[in-house]
Amino acid sequence: MGYYAWQIGKPMQGGDSRSVAIQPAINSENVATLIDGGAIYSIQCSACHQATGQGIPGAFPPLAGSEWVLADSAILVSILQDGLQGPIVVAGNTYNGVMPYFRGKLSSAEIAAVLTYIRSEWGNNADRIDPIMVDEHKTRFGERVPWTSDELIAEFGKP
Ligand code: HEC
Repeated sequence: MGYYAWQIGKPMQGGDSRSVAIQPAINSENVATLIDGGAIYSIQCSACHQATGQGIPGAFPPLAGSEWVLADSAILVSILQDGLQGPIVVAGNTYNGVMPYFRGKLSSAEIAAVLTYIRSEWGNNADRIDPIMVDEHKTRFGERVPWTSDELIAEFGKP
């Protein structure tokens, strides 16, 4: 975890011999690509959704091949930022659990990085998610209670 903080907050130091002038600026456009979404996934998500993204039948839904993961990015940002609860159908199976929210635990750039990771792993193939989308979500929804799948569909359309 210290690695991310080091990468985000500071210019390169130590063994890096490049001059400050030629280092790329770190901004919200490129910070997500500096953060290792796979490492965040291992730490924050894999206990439930498993390293394979297959989840655990009856308990934790799969991310591999999930229509929710490939859906409108606003849906994914909402789930990560605010959490999810109540019945949800994923790849034809119904789950009914509680997904913790990551608001305040992961930065916008970290949420974007881990979502970009799950959209491109295990055969998934969907657009990357930009930290700006997470900031827009925060502005629009603030601190809200965990979503249900019905609320997500009502707000953003069917995945
Ligand atoms: C404590 C277990 C737990 C952790 C940790 C967790 N999830 Fe979940 N996740 C769940 C459960 C349970 C659901 C289904 C919630 C429901 O039934 O309403 C879910 C649902 C989801 C969904 C929507 C359904 C699907 O399978 O596509 C996504 C996307 C998702 N999680 C991504 C993540 C990501 C990314 C992380 C890490 C940043 C994460 N989750 C961490 C338990 C967890």
